[in-house]
Amino acid sequence: MSRITITRPDDWHLHLRDAEHMRAVLPDTARRFARAIVMPNLKPPVTTTALALQYRDRIRAALPAGAAFEPLMTLYLTDNTQPAEIEKAKRSGVVHAVKYYPAGATTNSDSGVTDLEKCRGVFEAMESCGMPLLLHGEVTDPAVDVFDRERVFLERVLAPLVERHARLRVVLEHITTREAARFVATAPPRVAATITAHHLLINRNALFTGGIRPHHYCLPVAKREEHRRALVEVAVSGIPKFFLGTDSAPHARHTKETDCGCAGIYTAHAGIELYAEAFDAARSLDRLQGFASHFGPDFYGLPRNSENITLERSEWRVPDELAFGPDKLVPFRAGGKLKWNLV
Ligand code: DOR
Ligand code: ZN
Repeated sequence: MSRITITRPDDWHLHLRDAEHMRAVLPDTARRFARAIVMPNLKPPVTTTALALQYRDRIRAALPAGAAFEPLMTLYLTDNTQPAEIEKAKRSGVVHAVKYYPAGATTNSDSGVTDLEKCRGVFEAMESCGMPLLLHGEVTDPAVDVFDRERVFLERVLAPLVERHARLRVVLEHITTREAARFVATAPPRVAATITAHHLLINRNALFTGGIRPHHYCLPVAKREEHRRALVEVAVSGIPKFFLGTDSAPHARHTKETDCGCAGIYTAHAGIELYAEAFDAARSLDRLQGFASHFGPDFYGLPRNSENITLERSEWRVPDELAFGPDKLVPFRAGGKLKWNLV
């Protein structure tokens, strides 16, 4: 196959940042995707419906002329989020999910949840109105090895949560392990997962090829090859619980190339092309459309997109760096070749 046409995809996990940084990265996503679930980890975080509406307005105002792109907003869950805020969010029609970050787990997660017990009432409100909970699935216990934090999260947090809240819809975001793939595959239909392109394409060796590679550092960190293979297996399986979420997370070059570099990989410049490469390598291009364009809206109860996009097999070179407002960023595969191109 040298050309493939699929329903226009959506990105179910995206970081757009704000202001000039947002204006720099938004066109990459809007060119490829019809909609995206926009992460709320701004500084300060998007904790209320009012803040989400304002952020949505800023995104829409920054869209290139003629772009038909819809930002799907999320709320940042804190220890103090109230059930009434969930009901307000649902009524707004523009907030589509609530994001759980364990306090301290990753970029701008200081206001995250310290104790899930404090969120019981909020989860009950989410169950009643059918609002999905999106999870950054890593424990923050410093005694747990960084490479085990997702696996331990499944046992300590996710399994009891899914059990206690029998109607709660959850998306385990950016899964990185065989254990997470298995957990989701065997859970009830209300439990789903997103998978990034970079976790389908690299394993943890990519962090250390010839030296330390900060542009391959993200959270959850890439795992061993056997885990990457398990992710590819479920991504191409046709199981509707697994769908596309890039977790494209732009950071200025100097904030990654430093003694305590930020976590995050920028993939929006090739947001669908990278998935095409991963599915092609698994000889499963025929499964790309379900994963990229159908299963996400089905889970969120939204209509599938009606337009199409076409990808063709033709090599192109990724720039060494991209403008990022007043800064620069280093995109995934910088200076390297990509095999698929958006027509
Ligand atoms: O690598 C990551 N980057 N993981 C996250 O959870 C957050 C994200 C970001 O906002 O940069
Ligand atoms: Zn993310």
